Amino acid sequence: MMDSIIVIKSEFSNLINDAENIEILEEVRIAALGKKGRITSLMKNLGQIEPEERKLMGQNLNILKQDITSLLETKKVELETASLNARLLQERVDTTLPSRPEELGTIHPISQTTDELISIFGEMGFSVAEGPNIEEDWYNFTALNIPVDHPARQEHDTFYINAEKDGQRMVLRTHTSPVQIRTMQKHEPPIRIIVPGRTYRCDHDATHSPMFHQIEGLVIDEATHMGHLKGCLIEMCRTFFGIENLPVRFRPSYFPFTEPSAEVDIGCSFGDGILKIGEGDDWLEILGSGMVNPRVLENCGVDSQKFQGFAFGMGVERMAMLKYGIPDLRTFYDSDMRWLKHYGFQPLDIPSLVGRASL
Ligand code: DAH
Repeated sequence: MMDSIIVIKSEFSNLINDAENIEILEEVRIAALGKKGRITSLMKNLGQIEPEERKLMGQNLNILKQDITSLLETKKVELETASLNARLLQERVDTTLPSRPEELGTIHPISQTTDELISIFGEMGFSVAEGPNIEEDWYNFTALNIPVDHPARQEHDTFYINAEKDGQRMVLRTHTSPVQIRTMQKHEPPIRIIVPGRTYRCDHDATHSPMFHQIEGLVIDEATHMGHLKGCLIEMCRTFFGIENLPVRFRPSYFPFTEPSAEVDIGCSFGDGILKIGEGDDWLEILGSGMVNPRVLENCGVDSQKFQGFAFGMGVERMAMLKYGIPDLRTFYDSDMRWLKHYGFQPLDIPSLVGRASL
């Protein structure tokens, strides 16, 4: 029996030694130590051996098992190292291959349009101001010369919040104009700000959404006049739409917070149901504007004998829809990936006043 252990050991040692790869080595392991392997079978049969021989035989079989196990492990490490080295020799990083395209997101048309307008006004010397979305009734209406019984209040389809502050109802601001008031209360003129931000009205169809975006503008100084208002807004319209001679018209209008007030139209054509900006005999309204009503200045503690200025407000969605041909306002908020890929923008592609012929 001892002889056969020596033979088995030498047989398996040779097989392990000769194994060329991990698969063959595994076959050898199964043949020796698997459920039906040679060594396993011998161990199972120990019970049939004479008791005086069994103890020694058991010990020797255990030693055999340990030896073969350790030979298998050593060989396994050896084969794995060899195969890794072979792969490292074979596989090279090809630095000349083009990189895989990254899945890039896009800039939302609202963000893009806001950035474009900020950049245009920024170059004219405006800075950006912000204010709260949940606003006091006084800032949203009263201070802007829209008292409680004023008909303009009804036009605003206001969302009211239950909370009250100092007996005042809180509202979701219906326009960005309250930030005019907050700015004039806090800062002495000269003031030159634009206010991009969210606004809210209880309205929902193809051209209205309960939440939308506006950009407000305010300029207050000692000698600011209607000519400044016109020059500033004509320049903004032409730069934003990228049309050098875009016709811009100022049409008399009414806003409680400005006097006189003007709505701003740009020239366009609607032929065959297709809107073309910058050509034709039609007009499209894009902005509200006017000289700040002296009452508004006084409401903020600004001396209306000394200071005057102009203000304007526009809808960001409307500007984006016109410039980029987006037909339905509701799609801005659907988060549809196909829409976002189609209408979205690559980062940092914004127009600038710099380089325009008129400057
Ligand atoms: N707040 C107005 C609106 O939401 C827009 C507007 C018009 C703002 C004229 C102004 C302005 O500052 O002068 O419809």
